[in-house]
Amino acid sequence: MNAALEAEIQQKYTTETITEMRRWTDKLISFRLTRPEAFRFSAGQFARLGLPLEGGGQVWRAYSMCSAEYDEFLDFYSIVVPDGQFSSRLAMLQPGDQVMLDKRAMGFFQVDRLPGGQDLWLLATGTGIAPYLSILQQPEVWGRFERIVLAHCVREAAELSFQQEIAALRSHPLWQEHGHKLQYLPVVTRAAPAGMLNQRIPALLESGELAARAGLTMAPEHSRFMLCGNPKMVEDTHRQLMKMGYRMTRQNAPGHIVLENGW
Ligand SMILES: Cc1cc2nc3c(=O)[nH]c(=O)nc-3n(C[C@H](O)[C@H](O)[C@H](O)COP(=O)(O)OP(=O)(O)OC[C@H]3O[C@@H](n4cnc5c(N)ncnc54)[C@H](O)[C@@H]3O)c2cc1C
Ligand SMILES: NC(=O)c1ccc[n+]([C@@H]2O[C@H](COP(=O)([O-])OP(=O)(O)OC[C@H]3O[C@@H](n4cnc5c(N)ncnc54)[C@H](OP(=O)(O)O)[C@@H]3O)[C@@H](O)[C@H]2O)c1
Repeated sequence: MNAALEAEIQQKYTTETITEMRRWTDKLISFRLTRPEAFRFSAGQFARLGLPLEGGGQVWRAYSMCSAEYDEFLDFYSIVVPDGQFSSRLAMLQPGDQVMLDKRAMGFFQVDRLPGGQDLWLLATGTGIAPYLSILQQPEVWGRFERIVLAHCVREAAELSFQQEIAALRSHPLWQEHGHKLQYLPVVTRAAPAGMLNQRIPALLESGELAARAGLTMAPEHSRFMLCGNPKMVEDTHRQLMKMGYRMTRQNAPGHIVLENGW
């Protein structure tokens, strides 16, 4: 083996190239990276991405994959925090620029940690929608549940990214016979367009408005929940669901909820 190849194998990361970048708002971007053949992940997991710092050193952050397990590229969706060490640098990059990718995907935010049920509720704030975009490209998820509800809660309507991509999921040829199962429920908490849900997710759960809007009833026997986004939202939603009789899935103790803090 030559020295360069040996060094590459020993390194914990690979260097990937940005091939596409989309700016949804001044605070939200999505980008596509080249994918090394050896990079494996399960839908719902995250990667660690790194950028060099000007004075030397690197900054690394966790990012959930939005793309499918079987795609030849890796897609991500990112907040831009104006003085954030990673995202303010990321926002200045463009196609052709490079990002470091830790070789190992991480995390346990996976649908298969939930026991069988009829309805899958995917609840997100902000960039917490990212892992669901990957999960919803797994054909087995569509077969496993009778109904899937994706609720995306943001401050302003302009932050409801991926609406066309979500609509297209309903007619994807890989799970065409199940496409009708998906309901997308946008939630806007500040200046919501008329008719749109406009309360935070825990309040919508407590009032029954989320279930009513989906035309479903929630019950521990048949409802399963995934929570991702603002850590305070995850905490408040978890607490509200516990009040309603649901509990978190733990190792060797299947429950109704799996969760991931978005930072
Ligand atoms: C498991 C995991 C998965 C993650 N997946 C994603 C992802 O898919 N997309 C993504 O944008 N970020 C994700 N994050 C957050 C990400 O790792 C960074 O924190 C974020 O990109 C900002 O990095 P930064 O260095 O610019 O700012 P940081 O110094 O990391 O954060 C500064 C502050 O910005 C706020 N903040 C950080 N991330 C977010 C966010 N996503 N949305 C709203 N406010 C935020 C918080 O108030 C935080 O204290 C994830 C974090 C974890 C732990
Ligand atoms: N998006 C903006 O316009 C904006 C403007 C200035 C600064 N920022 C900064 O940018 C970062 C990201 O903002 P963001 O809007 O993407 O994320 P965010 O603050 O997490 O808000 C996203 C959604 O989550 C809701 N939410 C917040 N806390 C919650 C809780 N405890 N329970 C349930 N829902 C909750 C928000 O509702 P509420 O609207 O009720 O809070 C909003 O609908 C933040 O650090 C913020 O300070 C954002």
